[in-house]
Amino acid sequence: MTNERVADFYRRFALREARGQSTTYEAWGLGVAEDPAVLARIAPLPGMKKQPNLVFAAARFHGAPESTYDEFRSWLLEHWDQVEPTILARSTQTNEAGRCAVLLPVLSRFEGPLALIEVGASAGLCLHPDRYSYRYAVGEQTVALDPVAGPSPVVLPCRIDGGSVPRGLPDVRWRTGIDLEPLSPDDPGDRAWLRTLVWPGQEERRQRLDAALRIASDETVHIRSGDLVDSIGHAIADAPSDAHVVVFHSAVLVYVDEDRRRRFEALMRSRPDVSWISNEGERVLPRVAERLPRPAGGSAVLAVDEEPVAFVGPHGQSYESIVR
Ligand SMILES: C[S@@+](CC[C@H](N)C(=O)[O-])C[C@H]1O[C@@H](n2cnc3c(N)ncnc32)[C@H](O)[C@@H]1O
Repeated sequence: MTNERVADFYRRFALREARGQSTTYEAWGLGVAEDPAVLARIAPLPGMKKQPNLVFAAARFHGAPESTYDEFRSWLLEHWDQVEPTILARSTQTNEAGRCAVLLPVLSRFEGPLALIEVGASAGLCLHPDRYSYRYAVGEQTVALDPVAGPSPVVLPCRIDGGSVPRGLPDVRWRTGIDLEPLSPDDPGDRAWLRTLVWPGQEERRQRLDAALRIASDETVHIRSGDLVDSIGHAIADAPSDAHVVVFHSAVLVYVDEDRRRRFEALMRSRPDVSWISNEGERVLPRVAERLPRPAGGSAVLAVDEEPVAFVGPHGQSYESIVR
């Protein structure tokens, strides 16, 4: 990628993704786009390693100040030798428990105990939908749903339409995950990396992450290390026969190349006995995309067996059901 294309990438990130979410990242994205010295460091990085999210997180992981662009760029140029190996070794594995709030309306429709398999699970924080509390805002009203054992330290707020409020929390009999590089909720380095992936200024998300990590480390869930295409068959085969198997993924397929995505879709279609929930960008799954009644705007699309069911907030903050 030329410096100019990297500059465009950073400018688009600043204006389309960071604006309204993190003033620090917006300023840094716009700053990098106009900075030949920093662009010259980033441009030679391979493929997705150029991602603003990853470069900024790696810098903060090593102590970059969350302040003005000028201070950030001086720090980055001085510490590039430390930051670059982290960019190359790590990836954007942001794990957002909040996404359980948009999975729940679908999970609560399935009968019987569930066997959950999350593809691209990161540290597995979305594998505990039965251990979180939910506060669904329907107009001016709030519907509260709590685990059987009582309110959870992780409370997930979500705006939703009245007809879609979940009936209750699922009975999860078994859970497992798959990830290219599973992170461990018990590992201090992995926990620090996950915290760094939360953008500056998003303190609420950081607190929720810490609380969800505590819940996940109380009950270890096995997350197998491997590629989704190679591992999904084995994970399904291991599920108990007396539970309904649900395979799900959020913000994962965008990182997978086209060929492997198509192979994963074919594998899921070949298993009508398994329910398949996808929560991805609108263009990631072609059969979902062609069934959308309108563009998703900034939302992700929740689909069940390739049938779109809702436009959802990227971190699980809203659920708008799709009527076709
Ligand atoms: C952005 S994170 C999302 C984590 C989690 N699904 C969530 O919603 O919080 C994407 C995850 O997908 C994993 N991933 C990417 N490509 C993969 C592949 N081919 N097979 C398995 N996991 C993959 C990454 O390692 C990363 O942990």
